[in-house]
Amino acid sequence: MEKREQLYEGKAKKVFLTDDPELLIVSYKDDATAFNGQKRGTIVGKGVINNRMSNMLMQMLEKAGIPTHFVEELDDRNTVVKKVSIVPLEVIIRNISAGSFSKRYGVEEGIVFDEPTIEFSYKCDELDDPLLNAYHAIALKLATREEIETIKKLAFAVNEQLKAFWLKSGVTLVDFKLEFGRLSDGTIVLADEISPDTCRFWDSETGEKLDKDRFRRDLGGVEEAYAEIMKRLSETI
Ligand code: TMP
Ligand code: ASP
Repeated sequence: MEKREQLYEGKAKKVFLTDDPELLIVSYKDDATAFNGQKRGTIVGKGVINNRMSNMLMQMLEKAGIPTHFVEELDDRNTVVKKVSIVPLEVIIRNISAGSFSKRYGVEEGIVFDEPTIEFSYKCDELDDPLLNAYHAIALKLATREEIETIKKLAFAVNEQLKAFWLKSGVTLVDFKLEFGRLSDGTIVLADEISPDTCRFWDSETGEKLDKDRFRRDLGGVEEAYAEIMKRLSETI
């Protein structure tokens, strides 16, 4: 499978057409941004780690019956995925308070919830990804009621699988962001990536942050954290 013309360049990935109209190649970059692109930098080796990690986790989810866009890893940074039209929602699941949840509701980070929460943001850089609920998403025709029900069910199922997996590697899955897409026949599948860019991972023993918050908050040791979380994944899977 070879890359044809570039279809799109995002903040962390490029997407290429292939000779097969149903397949695309995603190419992971080392570029890192935060706060809707206001903070920019490079995390050396991030693209390689995010590509590998996302592919390994998506294959694990497929085995658990969760449909994903994953097809085949080509090399360190390049992966063949099914072509989808992305549902323009960022789907965020939280198990523990952190980040924008703590800020919005004025609570400390680290409160363990009795049950996970779900929230949606409208994927729109110009509007700064505003929070919205299912009714708003339907009103804006971003997704149908049935699609939102499917997305909710899949997102909570992903959480159960990932939480259990990371627990085995001594990592607490605090929260994460998912994106879903529609195949040409309308089937909803998990798309985008699952990586330290899109999840909060805390060491279960020490509470050390092993994710992109090290970059967002200038905590240092960013590359080391990405390498450590990748090592935990490889040792556990
Ligand atoms: P938040 O606490 O800043 O809302 O982030 C919740 C989770 O979503 C966290 O694991 C990081 C991830 N996330 C993204 O993947 N992309 C984004 O643009 C944002 C804001 C968060
Ligand atoms: N997606 C954010 C950005 O647009 C980065 C983040 O906070 O994860 O820069």
